[in-house]
Amino acid sequence: MTFSWLPGQSELNLQQDLLDAAAFAAKHYAATLDARAVFPGQTALTALAVFDEPIPEDPCDPSIVLETLATHGGPATTASSGPNYYGFVTGGSLPIALAARWLGDAWDQNSALGRMSPIAAQLEQTVEHWVTDLLGLPKETLMGLVSGSSIAGLSALAAARSHLYAKAQWPFAEKGLQGAPPIHIYGPDSLHGSIDKALSLLGFGANQMHWLATDSEGRLLPSALPTLAPNAIVILQAGQVCTGAFDDFASIIPIVKAQGAWVHIDGAFGLWAAACDRTRHLMAGAGQADSWSVDAHKTLNVPYDCGLVLCRHPSALKSALTASGSYLDQSSIRNGMEMTPEMSRRARSVELWAALKFLGRSGVAGLIGHFCTLAAQLREHLRDGPYTLINEGGFNQVLVALDEDAQTNAALQCLQDAGRVWMSGATWQGRAVIRISISNWQTTDAHIDLLAAEMQRAARAVQPTPPTSP
Ligand SMILES: Cc1ncc(COP(=O)(O)O)c(C=O)c1O
Repeated sequence: MTFSWLPGQSELNLQQDLLDAAAFAAKHYAATLDARAVFPGQTALTALAVFDEPIPEDPCDPSIVLETLATHGGPATTASSGPNYYGFVTGGSLPIALAARWLGDAWDQNSALGRMSPIAAQLEQTVEHWVTDLLGLPKETLMGLVSGSSIAGLSALAAARSHLYAKAQWPFAEKGLQGAPPIHIYGPDSLHGSIDKALSLLGFGANQMHWLATDSEGRLLPSALPTLAPNAIVILQAGQVCTGAFDDFASIIPIVKAQGAWVHIDGAFGLWAAACDRTRHLMAGAGQADSWSVDAHKTLNVPYDCGLVLCRHPSALKSALTASGSYLDQSSIRNGMEMTPEMSRRARSVELWAALKFLGRSGVAGLIGHFCTLAAQLREHLRDGPYTLINEGGFNQVLVALDEDAQTNAALQCLQDAGRVWMSGATWQGRAVIRISISNWQTTDAHIDLLAAEMQRAARAVQPTPPTSP
């Protein structure tokens, strides 16, 4: 391999060596995940200063580049792909999905057009059928592969806007938003922050957003639904980010569809509930929506980043996301860029296909069931206090608090500082809470026992010891 244009390094034959070295470092990392501090310690964080340098003037030996990453980068990662990480809603990485990703990275395909990558296009097509089938969505559903649910939600809401303006005979392509009939958006007041962001990117302001009253789990109260404005989008959720709760789709969707609204379901981690017998009831009626967003990098344990927008109105999704150019040959079986905001995209279909091919229908169900079983097990551990269990069912989410906010926050800090497990906090309906999200294929009963023990230890450390009887 020659790098004749690279000063001082005209003859290098390193590709094989570099990939071997990267694989070696990666395998070591993966093998030691369970034993790692879940959040990097101060020494590792201080060592990050090595990256704080001006742009090098001259090339560097690539093996040194890699070694610098492995030596100083690896220790400063969070072990978020490991079994002791319960933060946010962070999926692990199935070995086959990671391996397929490596191969796909070597292929380095651009999946904008089928002509650019027939294999990426074929796998997208296959996965679209599989996911639609697994989730019980309508056959005509079109899928776009994006970075995550934020962009999936943005894409779906752009499709909704396109659809509603076409219905209102507003020439959006020519006139845009200037003077357009208003669109009103409704949803539970517990929606994920990415929805507000998507709506504001699409030109909607707070005056058009109507966030409605919810119950203690963050589910929209059907009684809070007003009569909808003529051009309406209703956003519901499958898996509230703190409580894991699902809206009552079967009751709400028929009412709002009868008023001509577009229904979007944000199911970043919860939409997969439809693929498991044990949790399918949570998704009853969800198939009647118009669009859905879901992540593969959460519940399905595909490596970051991988999100799916699903839409039952192919022309609405395509018209919202269309881009043209005389050099863009549109003649292939599938052009992924027509269903996504991006043009150039890495081939996310590779690892997504690999995960689904490996798991099959029963494996996906098994993975979801495993998370629910572990969540139930943790609840059992915590049932006798001192934590209060805040949410009921929760799918894979367990939400707890101590009596006082200050104690809850201190216990969380104590858990995070100890570095054996990691979870994040939040404020839920005015109360400080600890969120535990069980989303990693590697987490076992024994990890949950450790988690519960760590939580009890943290609670004891921050709560006053009850007086002993004389
Ligand atoms: C309910 C919900 N919606 C949307 C998102 C945003 O997803 P992403 O971070 O993949 O863009 C999340 C992330 O946790 C989520 O839980």
